[in-house]
Amino acid sequence: MDRALRLLIVDDDTVDRRICRRALARLDPPPTCVEAETAAEALQRLGEADIDCILLDFRLPDMDGLELLARINCHDVEQRVPVVMLTGADDVSVAVEAMRRGASNYVVKDVDARYQELMPTIVRHALRDRELQIARWRDEQALARYRGDLSDLAQRLMDTEKTTTRRLAQMLHDQLGQTLAAIRLGFDAVSANCAATANAKAKEQASRVSALIDDAVREVRQVLVTLRPPLLDDRGLVDALDNELRMQPLARDDVELRFEPAPALAGRRWPADVEYAAFMIAREAIGNALRHANATRVRVSVDGGEGSLHLRVADDGSGIPADLGRPGHLGIVGMRERALAIAAHFALETTPAKGTVVRLDWNAA
Ligand SMILES: Nc1ncnc2c1ncn2[C@@H]1O[C@H](COP(=O)(O)OP(=O)(O)OP(=O)(O)O)[C@@H](O)[C@H]1O
Ligand SMILES: [Mg+2]
Repeated sequence: MDRALRLLIVDDDTVDRRICRRALARLDPPPTCVEAETAAEALQRLGEADIDCILLDFRLPDMDGLELLARINCHDVEQRVPVVMLTGADDVSVAVEAMRRGASNYVVKDVDARYQELMPTIVRHALRDRELQIARWRDEQALARYRGDLSDLAQRLMDTEKTTTRRLAQMLHDQLGQTLAAIRLGFDAVSANCAATANAKAKEQASRVSALIDDAVREVRQVLVTLRPPLLDDRGLVDALDNELRMQPLARDDVELRFEPAPALAGRRWPADVEYAAFMIAREAIGNALRHANATRVRVSVDGGEGSLHLRVADDGSGIPADLGRPGHLGIVGMRERALAIAAHFALETTPAKGTVVRLDWNAA
């Protein structure tokens, strides 16, 4: 320790204060001791001088130690001065209570006065504990700030994604969609005009081109569905999910894909960003269950009410392998980010050979 500490001894007994002062003089370098006989005096001294640690007798004439402790500890962690309670053998339980309320430690004034030997060490420990406490508090603050920033960022990304996909969908629909519709009409007109004169080869080529136009129209529609979940804006999450499940191409006949919205949800709407995030998470979780799990049963359930939404996608498949091996899987990461953006709780529970459950729980702030 390089600088002399400033210690505040709060005790109404002159002899006890002197014992304390002597015991603490063994600190290296010897501390400066400030003394107070009452709680009021202690608070005044605290305001006047920079105190590193307080040694506080539990019994004071004007206030009990716990109340004084509460007043001393009412500041932010960084400004709190560590307090070591001084107590008689009869008051140990109170000292323990004081520690629960933020005292750093306590010293029992035993009749043999052995506590004097311990005091310098206890003060040093109290100071070190306070430093650790402050460091932890700062880390927690930084983590909370980082989480907040991350959530804002995820929210902004989701907003950008939404507007970009909207614009893209609009352009595809209004431009490529219209052009394809015009090609379809024009081609049908040309085919009808040439039908009488065309030879078999020309007819076969025409039929192939016609099929290609159909494919292109279907593909554009499919892209539109992927970009802009149908029904979500107009009818809400429950109808959009219902539609999404009906549209799922099932690779096997024995897969049961079931939608279980809570009965009271008919017509229920949530904020647009919450519905969008929940829909995209459900879409990813359903896609994963159908593509990776080799499941026979996939259940999607939605529950909630005003200000709350609970989504669950459960499969009875293989479970997610512990080591995913190859990089570039973005589905699960994306689900977490979407949940973060709407400040919802996201959980992924997976058990080998039993299946996977994806949960999203949102509650309005
Ligand atoms: N329900 C599931 N059951 C079994 N395995 C799963 C399940 N969900 C995910 N996985 C495993 O976790 C991996 C990562 O999933 P994730 O959704 O992040 O990526 P992906 O589906 O492979 O690719 P994409 O980025 O297109 O979503 C999958 O490749 C799969 O091995
Ligand atoms: Mg995926």
